[in-house]
Amino acid sequence: MSSPLNVVILAAGRGTRMKSDLPKVLHPLAGRPLLSHVLAAADTLSPEKICVVYGHGGEALPKAIARDELAWAKQEPQLGTGHAVQQAVPHLDPEAICLILYGDVPLTRPETLQEMTLIAREGAIALLTVRLANPAGYGRIVRNARGQVERIVEHKDATPEELAIDEVNTGILCLPAGKLAGWLARLGNDNAQGEYYLTDVIGMAAAEGEKVMPCHPAAEWEVLGINSRQQLAQLERMHQHNVAEALMAQGVTLIDPARLDVRGSLECGRDVLIDVNCVFEGAVVLADGVKVGANCVLKNVSLAAGVELQPFCHLDGAKVGADARIGPFSRLRPGTELAEETHIGNFVEIKNSQVGFNSKINHLSYVGDATVGRKVNIGAGTITCNYDGANKHRTVIEDDVFVGSDTQLVAPVTVGQGATIGAGTTLTKDAPAGQLTLSRAKQLTLPGWQRPVKKK
Ligand code: UD1
Ligand code: CA
Repeated sequence: MSSPLNVVILAAGRGTRMKSDLPKVLHPLAGRPLLSHVLAAADTLSPEKICVVYGHGGEALPKAIARDELAWAKQEPQLGTGHAVQQAVPHLDPEAICLILYGDVPLTRPETLQEMTLIAREGAIALLTVRLANPAGYGRIVRNARGQVERIVEHKDATPEELAIDEVNTGILCLPAGKLAGWLARLGNDNAQGEYYLTDVIGMAAAEGEKVMPCHPAAEWEVLGINSRQQLAQLERMHQHNVAEALMAQGVTLIDPARLDVRGSLECGRDVLIDVNCVFEGAVVLADGVKVGANCVLKNVSLAAGVELQPFCHLDGAKVGADARIGPFSRLRPGTELAEETHIGNFVEIKNSQVGFNSKINHLSYVGDATVGRKVNIGAGTITCNYDGANKHRTVIEDDVFVGSDTQLVAPVTVGQGATIGAGTTLTKDAPAGQLTLSRAKQLTLPGWQRPVKKK
Protein backbone atom coordinates (compact mmCIF):
# COMPACT_ATOMS: atom_id res chain seq x y z
CA MET A 1 0.00 0.00 0.00
CA SER A 2 1.43 3.39 -0.92
CA SER A 3 0.94 6.19 1.60
CA PRO A 4 -2.19 8.32 1.34
CA LEU A 5 -1.98 11.77 -0.22
CA ASN A 6 -3.06 14.94 1.59
CA VAL A 7 -3.10 18.24 -0.28
CA VAL A 8 -2.77 21.62 1.44
CA ILE A 9 -3.71 24.71 -0.57
CA LEU A 10 -2.52 28.06 0.76
CA ALA A 11 -5.07 30.79 0.17
CA ALA A 12 -5.03 33.04 3.22
CA GLY A 13 -2.94 35.86 1.82
CA ARG A 14 -4.25 39.38 1.38
CA GLY A 15 -3.81 39.87 -2.35
CA THR A 16 -3.42 43.59 -1.75
CA ARG A 17 -2.33 44.36 -5.31
CA MET A 18 -5.62 43.11 -6.75
CA LYS A 19 -7.27 46.14 -5.12
CA SER A 20 -10.45 44.14 -4.75
CA ASP A 21 -13.16 43.26 -2.25
CA LEU A 22 -13.21 39.76 -3.71
CA PRO A 23 -10.63 37.37 -2.19
CA LYS A 24 -7.81 36.97 -4.73
CA VAL A 25 -8.31 33.23 -5.29
CA LEU A 26 -11.95 33.83 -6.26
CA HIS A 27 -11.02 36.00 -9.22
CA PRO A 28 -11.84 34.03 -12.36
CA LEU A 29 -9.44 32.66 -14.92
CA ALA A 30 -11.13 31.07 -17.94
CA GLY A 31 -14.46 31.64 -16.18
CA ARG A 32 -13.60 29.76 -12.98
CA PRO A 33 -12.09 30.97 -9.70
CA LEU A 34 -8.30 30.55 -9.47
CA LEU A 35 -8.84 28.24 -6.50
CA SER A 36 -11.12 25.99 -8.56
CA HIS A 37 -8.30 25.42 -11.05
CA VAL A 38 -5.99 24.39 -8.21
CA LEU A 39 -8.66 22.11 -6.73
CA ALA A 40 -9.23 20.51 -10.14
CA ALA A 41 -5.50 19.80 -10.49
CA ALA A 42 -5.47 18.32 -6.97
CA ASP A 43 -8.51 16.18 -7.77
CA THR A 44 -6.67 14.46 -10.61
CA LEU A 45 -4.33 12.95 -7.98
CA SER A 46 -7.27 11.40 -6.04
CA PRO A 47 -6.05 12.67 -2.65
CA GLU A 48 -7.53 11.28 0.57
CA LYS A 49 -7.88 14.83 1.82
CA ILE A 50 -7.67 18.42 0.63
CA CYS A 51 -7.27 21.19 3.19
CA VAL A 52 -7.57 24.84 2.17
CA VAL A 53 -5.93 27.42 4.43
CA TYR A 54 -7.97 30.61 4.28
CA GLY A 55 -8.06 33.83 6.24
CA HIS A 56 -8.19 37.10 4.36
CA GLY A 57 -11.71 37.62 3.02
CA GLY A 58 -13.15 35.52 5.83
CA GLU A 59 -15.96 33.09 5.20
CA ALA A 60 -16.49 34.32 1.63
CA LEU A 61 -14.09 31.63 0.46
CA PRO A 62 -15.64 28.47 1.99
CA LYS A 63 -19.04 29.85 1.02
CA ALA A 64 -18.13 30.43 -2.62
CA ILE A 65 -16.39 27.09 -3.10
CA ALA A 66 -18.98 25.03 -1.18
CA ARG A 67 -17.52 21.54 -1.44
CA ASP A 68 -18.51 19.31 1.48
CA GLU A 69 -15.47 17.05 1.45
CA LEU A 70 -12.94 19.90 1.74
CA ALA A 71 -11.27 20.65 5.07
CA TRP A 72 -10.92 24.37 5.85
CA ALA A 73 -8.25 25.70 8.19
CA LYS A 74 -8.51 29.33 9.22
CA GLN A 75 -5.27 31.29 9.54
CA GLU A 76 -5.68 34.51 11.48
CA PRO A 77 -3.55 36.56 11.62
CA GLN A 78 -1.43 35.62 8.60
CA LEU A 79 2.10 35.17 9.89
CA GLY A 80 3.73 33.60 6.85
CA THR A 81 3.61 30.49 4.68
CA GLY A 82 5.05 28.22 7.42
CA HIS A 83 2.44 29.46 9.88
CA ALA A 84 -0.21 28.86 7.22
CA VAL A 85 0.72 25.20 6.74
CA GLN A 86 0.83 24.82 10.54
CA GLN A 87 -2.90 25.61 10.65
CA ALA A 88 -3.52 22.64 8.36
CA VAL A 89 -1.48 20.17 10.41
CA PRO A 90 -4.39 19.04 12.66
CA HIS A 91 -6.22 17.95 9.48
CA LEU A 92 -3.30 15.93 8.12
CA ASP A 93 -2.70 12.20 8.39
CA PRO A 94 0.87 11.81 9.80
CA GLU A 95 1.27 8.72 7.61
CA ALA A 96 0.38 10.68 4.46
CA ILE A 97 2.56 12.50 2.03
CA CYS A 98 1.61 16.15 1.85
CA LEU A 99 1.50 18.18 -1.35
CA ILE A 100 1.53 21.93 -0.79
CA LEU A 101 -0.02 24.15 -3.47
CA TYR A 102 -0.79 27.85 -3.71
CA GLY A 103 -4.37 28.95 -4.38
CA ASP A 104 -3.10 31.72 -6.64
CA VAL A 105 -1.01 29.49 -8.93
CA PRO A 106 -3.76 28.08 -11.15
CA LEU A 107 -2.18 26.33 -14.13
CA THR A 108 0.17 23.66 -12.75
CA ARG A 109 -0.18 20.53 -14.90
CA PRO A 110 -1.37 17.37 -13.14
CA GLU A 111 1.59 15.49 -14.70
CA THR A 112 4.03 17.74 -12.85
CA LEU A 113 2.27 17.21 -9.53
CA GLN A 114 2.02 13.47 -10.15
CA GLU A 115 5.79 13.28 -10.63
CA MET A 116 6.28 15.10 -7.30
CA THR A 117 4.03 12.68 -5.41
CA LEU A 118 6.00 9.74 -6.81
CA ILE A 119 9.25 11.26 -5.50
CA ALA A 120 7.74 11.88 -2.06
CA ARG A 121 6.33 8.34 -1.92
CA GLU A 122 9.89 7.11 -2.31
CA GLY A 123 10.87 9.06 0.80
CA ALA A 124 12.43 12.21 -0.68
CA ILE A 125 11.20 15.80 -0.59
CA ALA A 126 10.07 17.00 -4.00
CA LEU A 127 10.59 20.72 -4.54
CA LEU A 128 9.33 22.47 -7.66
CA THR A 129 11.90 25.00 -8.84
CA VAL A 130 12.42 27.00 -12.01
CA ARG A 131 15.17 29.16 -13.51
CA LEU A 132 13.93 32.66 -14.26
CA ALA A 133 15.51 35.38 -16.38
CA ASN A 134 14.33 37.79 -13.67
CA PRO A 135 14.28 36.02 -10.29
CA ALA A 136 13.60 39.22 -8.31
CA GLY A 137 11.21 38.77 -5.40
CA TYR A 138 11.40 34.98 -5.28
CA GLY A 139 13.11 32.72 -2.77
CA ARG A 140 16.43 31.46 -4.21
CA ILE A 141 17.48 27.82 -4.23
CA VAL A 142 20.88 27.48 -2.51
CA ARG A 143 22.78 24.34 -3.53
CA ASN A 144 25.99 22.95 -2.00
CA ALA A 145 29.26 22.24 -3.83
CA ARG A 146 27.87 18.88 -4.98
CA GLY A 147 24.80 20.57 -6.45
CA GLN A 148 22.39 19.31 -3.81
CA VAL A 149 19.66 21.59 -2.50
CA GLU A 150 20.72 22.92 0.88
CA ARG A 151 18.18 25.60 1.74
CA ILE A 152 16.01 28.40 0.37
CA VAL A 153 16.79 32.03 1.05
CA GLU A 154 14.07 34.65 0.63
CA HIS A 155 14.87 37.63 -1.59
CA LYS A 156 14.70 40.05 1.33
CA ASP A 157 17.15 37.96 3.39
CA ALA A 158 19.59 37.17 0.58
CA THR A 159 23.20 38.28 0.23
CA PRO A 160 24.32 39.83 -3.09
CA GLU A 161 25.83 36.44 -4.08
CA GLU A 162 22.58 34.65 -3.27
CA LEU A 163 20.60 37.24 -5.22
CA ALA A 164 22.63 36.25 -8.29
CA ILE A 165 21.09 32.74 -8.16
CA ASP A 166 18.48 32.38 -10.92
CA GLU A 167 16.91 29.13 -9.68
CA VAL A 168 13.84 30.04 -7.63
CA ASN A 169 11.33 28.39 -5.34
CA THR A 170 7.88 28.08 -6.90
CA GLY A 171 6.43 27.33 -3.44
CA ILE A 172 5.09 23.93 -4.50
CA LEU A 173 6.52 20.98 -2.62
CA CYS A 174 5.64 17.46 -1.60
CA LEU A 175 6.94 15.71 1.55
CA PRO A 176 5.97 13.33 4.37
CA ALA A 177 3.29 14.95 6.56
CA GLY A 178 4.63 13.58 9.85
CA LYS A 179 8.11 15.03 9.37
CA LEU A 180 6.66 18.27 8.04
CA ALA A 181 4.70 18.75 11.28
CA GLY A 182 7.89 18.30 13.30
CA TRP A 183 9.83 20.86 11.29
CA LEU A 184 6.98 23.37 11.31
CA ALA A 185 6.86 23.20 15.11
CA ARG A 186 10.49 24.36 15.20
CA LEU A 187 10.17 27.33 12.80
CA GLY A 188 11.23 30.74 14.02
CA ASN A 189 10.48 34.16 12.58
CA ASP A 190 13.86 35.81 12.97
CA ASN A 191 14.13 37.11 9.41
CA ALA A 192 13.72 40.27 7.35
CA GLN A 193 9.91 39.95 7.24
CA GLY A 194 9.34 38.62 10.78
CA GLU A 195 7.37 35.73 9.26
CA TYR A 196 7.32 31.97 9.76
CA TYR A 197 8.76 30.82 6.44
CA LEU A 198 7.71 27.45 5.05
CA THR A 199 10.91 27.60 3.04
CA ASP A 200 13.02 27.14 6.21
CA VAL A 201 11.72 23.56 6.33
CA ILE A 202 13.97 22.75 3.38
CA GLY A 203 17.09 23.86 5.28
CA MET A 204 16.05 21.80 8.34
CA ALA A 205 15.38 18.71 6.24
CA ALA A 206 18.68 18.95 4.35
CA ALA A 207 20.57 19.44 7.64
CA GLU A 208 19.01 16.21 8.91
CA GLY A 209 20.25 14.40 5.81
CA GLU A 210 16.89 14.21 4.03
CA LYS A 211 17.08 14.11 0.27
CA VAL A 212 15.62 17.18 -1.45
CA MET A 213 14.82 16.48 -5.09
CA PRO A 214 14.22 19.52 -7.30
CA CYS A 215 11.56 19.03 -10.00
CA HIS A 216 10.91 21.38 -12.87
CA PRO A 217 7.76 22.36 -14.71
CA ALA A 218 7.53 21.71 -18.45
CA ALA A 219 6.66 25.38 -19.00
CA GLU A 220 6.95 28.56 -17.00
CA TRP A 221 3.18 29.25 -17.02
CA GLU A 222 2.70 26.20 -14.81
CA VAL A 223 4.22 28.01 -11.86
CA LEU A 224 3.13 31.59 -12.47
CA GLY A 225 1.18 33.10 -9.60
CA ILE A 226 -1.32 35.93 -9.66
CA ASN A 227 -0.67 39.04 -7.61
CA SER A 228 -2.25 41.73 -9.78
CA ARG A 229 -4.94 42.19 -12.40
CA GLN A 230 -2.18 42.58 -14.99
CA GLN A 231 -0.79 39.16 -14.14
CA LEU A 232 -4.30 37.72 -14.15
CA ALA A 233 -4.90 39.04 -17.67
CA GLN A 234 -1.50 37.79 -18.87
CA LEU A 235 -2.08 34.30 -17.50
CA GLU A 236 -5.58 34.26 -19.00
CA ARG A 237 -4.05 34.91 -22.44
CA MET A 238 -1.42 32.22 -21.92
CA HIS A 239 -4.11 29.75 -20.92
CA GLN A 240 -6.29 30.67 -23.90
CA HIS A 241 -3.25 30.32 -26.16
CA ASN A 242 -2.76 26.78 -24.84
CA VAL A 243 -6.43 25.98 -25.39
CA ALA A 244 -6.26 27.35 -28.95
CA GLU A 245 -3.11 25.34 -29.72
CA ALA A 246 -4.76 22.15 -28.49
CA LEU A 247 -7.87 22.79 -30.60
CA MET A 248 -5.82 23.41 -33.75
CA ALA A 249 -3.67 20.35 -33.09
CA GLN A 250 -6.89 18.39 -32.97
CA GLY A 251 -8.02 19.73 -36.36
CA VAL A 252 -10.11 22.81 -35.57
CA THR A 253 -9.64 25.88 -37.80
CA LEU A 254 -9.30 29.06 -35.76
CA ILE A 255 -9.24 32.13 -37.98
CA ASP A 256 -7.22 33.88 -35.25
CA PRO A 257 -6.09 31.78 -32.27
CA ALA A 258 -5.39 34.99 -30.35
CA ARG A 259 -9.06 35.94 -30.47
CA LEU A 260 -10.74 32.95 -28.83
CA ASP A 261 -12.03 32.57 -25.28
CA VAL A 262 -12.99 29.21 -23.86
CA ARG A 263 -14.40 29.47 -20.35
CA GLY A 264 -15.48 25.90 -19.87
CA SER A 265 -15.23 22.80 -22.02
CA LEU A 266 -15.30 22.96 -25.82
CA GLU A 267 -15.62 19.66 -27.63
CA CYS A 268 -15.17 19.76 -31.40
CA GLY A 269 -15.67 17.24 -34.20
CA ARG A 270 -13.77 17.18 -37.50
CA ASP A 271 -13.37 20.28 -39.63
CA VAL A 272 -14.95 22.75 -37.26
CA LEU A 273 -14.28 26.39 -38.13
CA ILE A 274 -14.38 29.20 -35.57
CA ASP A 275 -14.11 32.80 -36.69
CA VAL A 276 -12.73 35.60 -34.50
CA ASN A 277 -13.96 36.87 -31.12
CA CYS A 278 -16.10 33.95 -30.06
CA VAL A 279 -16.69 33.12 -26.41
CA PHE A 280 -17.54 29.60 -25.23
CA GLU A 281 -18.92 29.09 -21.73
CA GLY A 282 -20.00 26.02 -19.81
CA ALA A 283 -20.13 22.80 -21.82
CA VAL A 284 -20.20 23.40 -25.57
CA VAL A 285 -20.22 20.67 -28.20
CA LEU A 286 -19.64 21.44 -31.88
CA ALA A 287 -20.08 18.41 -34.14
CA ASP A 288 -18.36 17.76 -37.48
CA GLY A 289 -18.28 20.62 -39.94
CA VAL A 290 -19.85 23.23 -37.67
CA LYS A 291 -19.02 26.82 -38.61
CA VAL A 292 -19.18 29.55 -35.99
CA GLY A 293 -19.16 33.08 -37.39
CA ALA A 294 -17.39 36.04 -35.81
CA ASN A 295 -18.51 37.48 -32.46
CA CYS A 296 -20.73 34.65 -31.24
CA VAL A 297 -21.26 33.79 -27.58
CA LEU A 298 -22.19 30.18 -26.84
CA LYS A 299 -23.01 28.84 -23.40
CA ASN A 300 -24.04 25.24 -22.68
CA VAL A 301 -24.87 24.61 -26.31
CA SER A 302 -24.76 21.59 -28.55
CA LEU A 303 -24.63 22.08 -32.34
CA ALA A 304 -25.05 18.99 -34.54
CA ALA A 305 -23.05 18.33 -37.70
CA GLY A 306 -23.00 21.00 -40.37
CA VAL A 307 -24.68 23.74 -38.36
CA GLU A 308 -23.74 27.20 -39.53
CA LEU A 309 -23.83 30.10 -37.11
CA GLN A 310 -23.53 33.45 -38.81
CA PRO A 311 -21.89 36.37 -36.95
CA PHE A 312 -23.20 37.94 -33.73
CA CYS A 313 -25.34 35.13 -32.35
CA HIS A 314 -25.97 34.57 -28.65
CA LEU A 315 -26.88 31.01 -27.71
CA ASP A 316 -27.55 29.82 -24.18
CA GLY A 317 -28.85 26.38 -23.23
CA ALA A 318 -29.80 25.45 -26.79
CA LYS A 319 -29.65 22.23 -28.79
CA VAL A 320 -29.45 22.58 -32.55
CA GLY A 321 -29.98 19.83 -35.13
CA ALA A 322 -27.82 19.07 -38.14
CA ASP A 323 -27.44 21.57 -40.98
CA ALA A 324 -29.42 24.31 -39.27
CA ARG A 325 -28.58 27.89 -40.31
CA ILE A 326 -28.69 30.53 -37.61
CA GLY A 327 -28.04 34.23 -37.60
CA PRO A 328 -26.72 36.79 -38.00
CA PHE A 329 -27.98 38.37 -34.76
CA SER A 330 -30.06 35.46 -33.45
CA ARG A 331 -30.67 34.79 -29.80
CA LEU A 332 -31.45 31.29 -28.55
CA ARG A 333 -32.32 31.06 -24.86
CA PRO A 334 -32.50 28.05 -22.52
CA GLY A 335 -34.80 25.26 -23.54
CA THR A 336 -34.53 25.92 -27.27
CA GLU A 337 -34.39 22.79 -29.41
CA LEU A 338 -34.08 23.23 -33.14
CA ALA A 339 -34.47 20.21 -35.42
CA GLU A 340 -32.40 19.53 -38.54
CA GLU A 341 -32.29 22.10 -41.33
CA THR A 342 -34.10 24.82 -39.46
CA HIS A 343 -33.38 28.43 -40.39
CA ILE A 344 -33.35 31.13 -37.75
CA GLY A 345 -32.65 34.64 -38.95
CA ASN A 346 -31.77 38.10 -37.71
CA PHE A 347 -33.28 39.57 -34.57
CA VAL A 348 -35.15 36.40 -33.72
CA GLU A 349 -35.38 35.35 -30.08
CA ILE A 350 -36.41 31.82 -29.18
CA LYS A 351 -36.96 30.53 -25.65
CA ASN A 352 -38.10 27.19 -24.23
CA SER A 353 -39.42 26.03 -27.59
CA GLN A 354 -39.07 23.13 -29.98
CA VAL A 355 -38.88 23.91 -33.67
CA GLY A 356 -39.37 21.03 -36.11
CA PHE A 357 -37.51 19.91 -39.24
CA ASN A 358 -36.85 22.55 -41.89
CA SER A 359 -38.99 25.23 -40.29
CA LYS A 360 -38.03 28.86 -40.86
CA ILE A 361 -38.22 31.86 -38.56
CA ASN A 362 -36.20 34.36 -40.46
CA HIS A 363 -36.86 37.90 -39.27
CA LEU A 364 -37.59 39.90 -36.12
CA SER A 365 -39.68 37.39 -34.16
CA TYR A 366 -40.16 36.22 -30.59
CA VAL A 367 -41.02 32.57 -30.10
CA GLY A 368 -41.36 31.59 -26.44
CA ASP A 369 -42.93 28.51 -24.82
CA ALA A 370 -43.93 27.17 -28.22
CA THR A 371 -44.02 23.89 -30.06
CA VAL A 372 -43.46 24.47 -33.75
CA GLY A 373 -43.91 21.57 -36.18
CA ARG A 374 -42.12 20.59 -39.40
CA LYS A 375 -41.85 22.83 -42.44
CA VAL A 376 -43.49 25.78 -40.75
CA ASN A 377 -42.84 29.27 -42.08
CA ILE A 378 -43.13 32.06 -39.56
CA GLY A 379 -43.27 35.51 -41.14
CA ALA A 380 -41.40 38.61 -40.05
CA GLY A 381 -42.37 40.23 -36.79
CA THR A 382 -44.38 37.31 -35.40
CA ILE A 383 -44.77 37.24 -31.62
CA THR A 384 -45.96 34.53 -29.29
CA CYS A 385 -47.71 36.40 -26.48
CA ASN A 386 -46.77 33.77 -23.92
CA TYR A 387 -47.04 35.81 -20.73
CA ASP A 388 -50.24 37.28 -19.30
CA GLY A 389 -48.44 39.15 -16.56
CA ALA A 390 -48.76 36.26 -14.11
CA ASN A 391 -48.40 32.97 -15.95
CA LYS A 392 -46.74 31.57 -19.06
CA HIS A 393 -48.78 29.74 -21.68
CA ARG A 394 -47.86 27.55 -24.64
CA THR A 395 -48.37 28.10 -28.31
CA VAL A 396 -48.66 25.07 -30.58
CA ILE A 397 -48.05 25.49 -34.31
CA GLU A 398 -48.54 22.25 -36.21
CA ASP A 399 -46.73 21.00 -39.33
CA ASP A 400 -46.83 22.95 -42.61
CA VAL A 401 -48.35 26.07 -41.10
CA PHE A 402 -47.72 29.44 -42.74
CA VAL A 403 -47.87 32.39 -40.34
CA GLY A 404 -48.12 35.76 -42.09
CA SER A 405 -45.97 38.68 -40.97
CA ASP A 406 -46.75 40.75 -37.90
CA THR A 407 -48.92 38.13 -36.26
CA GLN A 408 -49.51 37.90 -32.53
CA LEU A 409 -50.34 34.47 -31.18
CA VAL A 410 -52.02 35.00 -27.81
CA ALA A 411 -51.26 31.84 -25.82
CA PRO A 412 -52.59 29.35 -24.99
CA VAL A 413 -53.43 28.87 -28.64
CA THR A 414 -53.03 26.19 -31.32
CA VAL A 415 -52.65 26.58 -35.06
CA GLY A 416 -53.78 23.40 -36.83
CA GLN A 417 -51.76 21.54 -39.42
CA GLY A 418 -51.46 23.26 -42.79
CA ALA A 419 -53.27 26.39 -41.60
CA THR A 420 -52.46 29.84 -43.00
CA ILE A 421 -52.60 32.89 -40.76
CA GLY A 422 -53.07 36.18 -42.57
CA ALA A 423 -50.55 38.96 -42.01
CA GLY A 424 -51.30 41.26 -39.11
CA THR A 425 -53.51 38.78 -37.28
CA THR A 426 -54.00 38.80 -33.52
CA LEU A 427 -54.87 35.18 -32.91
CA THR A 428 -56.80 34.66 -29.68
CA LYS A 429 -58.63 31.43 -30.57
CA ASP A 430 -57.34 28.21 -32.11
CA ALA A 431 -56.97 28.32 -35.90
CA PRO A 432 -58.39 25.28 -37.67
CA ALA A 433 -56.16 23.06 -39.83
CA GLY A 434 -55.87 23.67 -43.54
CA GLN A 435 -57.75 27.00 -43.64
CA LEU A 436 -56.96 30.69 -43.80
CA THR A 437 -57.59 32.50 -40.53
CA LEU A 438 -57.06 36.20 -40.13
CA SER A 439 -58.14 39.07 -37.94
CA ARG A 440 -57.79 42.37 -39.63
CA ALA A 441 -59.64 45.65 -39.44
CA LYS A 442 -61.34 46.41 -42.73
CA GLN A 443 -59.22 48.67 -44.96
CA LEU A 444 -60.84 51.94 -45.86
CA THR A 445 -59.91 55.09 -47.70
CA LEU A 446 -61.48 58.51 -46.90
CA PRO A 447 -62.17 60.34 -50.14
CA GLY A 448 -61.26 64.03 -50.10
CA TRP A 449 -59.26 63.83 -46.88
CA GLN A 450 -56.51 66.44 -46.67
CA ARG A 451 -53.34 66.53 -44.66
CA PRO A 452 -53.26 69.19 -41.96
CA VAL A 453 -51.00 72.13 -42.79
CA LYS A 454 -48.93 74.23 -40.42
CA LYS A 455 -50.61 77.43 -39.18
CA LYS A 456 -48.77 80.50 -40.49
C1 UD1 B 1 6.75 32.58 -1.31
C2 UD1 B 1 7.99 31.81 -0.93
C3 UD1 B 1 9.10 32.09 -1.93
C4 UD1 B 1 8.63 31.74 -3.33
C5 UD1 B 1 7.32 32.45 -3.65
C6 UD1 B 1 6.77 31.94 -4.96
C7 UD1 B 1 8.01 31.67 1.53
C8 UD1 B 1 8.56 32.22 2.77
N1 UD1 B 1 8.40 32.25 0.38
O1 UD1 B 1 7.04 33.94 -1.23
O2 UD1 B 1 10.25 31.34 -1.62
O3 UD1 B 1 9.63 32.07 -4.29
O4 UD1 B 1 6.34 32.20 -2.64
O5 UD1 B 1 5.66 32.71 -5.30
O6 UD1 B 1 7.26 30.70 1.55
N2 UD1 B 1 -0.07 32.66 2.36
C9 UD1 B 1 -0.90 32.30 3.38
N3 UD1 B 1 -0.68 32.78 4.62
C10 UD1 B 1 0.36 33.59 4.90
C11 UD1 B 1 1.21 33.97 3.86
C12 UD1 B 1 0.98 33.50 2.59
O7 UD1 B 1 -1.86 31.55 3.16
O8 UD1 B 1 0.51 33.97 6.08
C13 UD1 B 1 -0.31 32.14 0.99
C14 UD1 B 1 -0.67 33.23 0.02
O9 UD1 B 1 -2.08 33.39 -0.07
C15 UD1 B 1 -0.10 32.67 -1.28
C16 UD1 B 1 1.08 31.84 -0.83
O10 UD1 B 1 0.87 31.56 0.53
O11 UD1 B 1 -0.99 31.83 -1.94
C17 UD1 B 1 2.40 32.54 -1.02
O12 UD1 B 1 2.38 33.74 -0.31
P1 UD1 B 1 3.16 35.01 -0.82
O13 UD1 B 1 3.01 36.08 0.16
O14 UD1 B 1 2.82 35.28 -2.23
O15 UD1 B 1 4.66 34.43 -0.73
P2 UD1 B 1 5.96 35.15 -1.21
O16 UD1 B 1 6.39 36.10 -0.18
O17 UD1 B 1 5.74 35.64 -2.57
CA1 CA C 1 3.47 35.48 -4.33
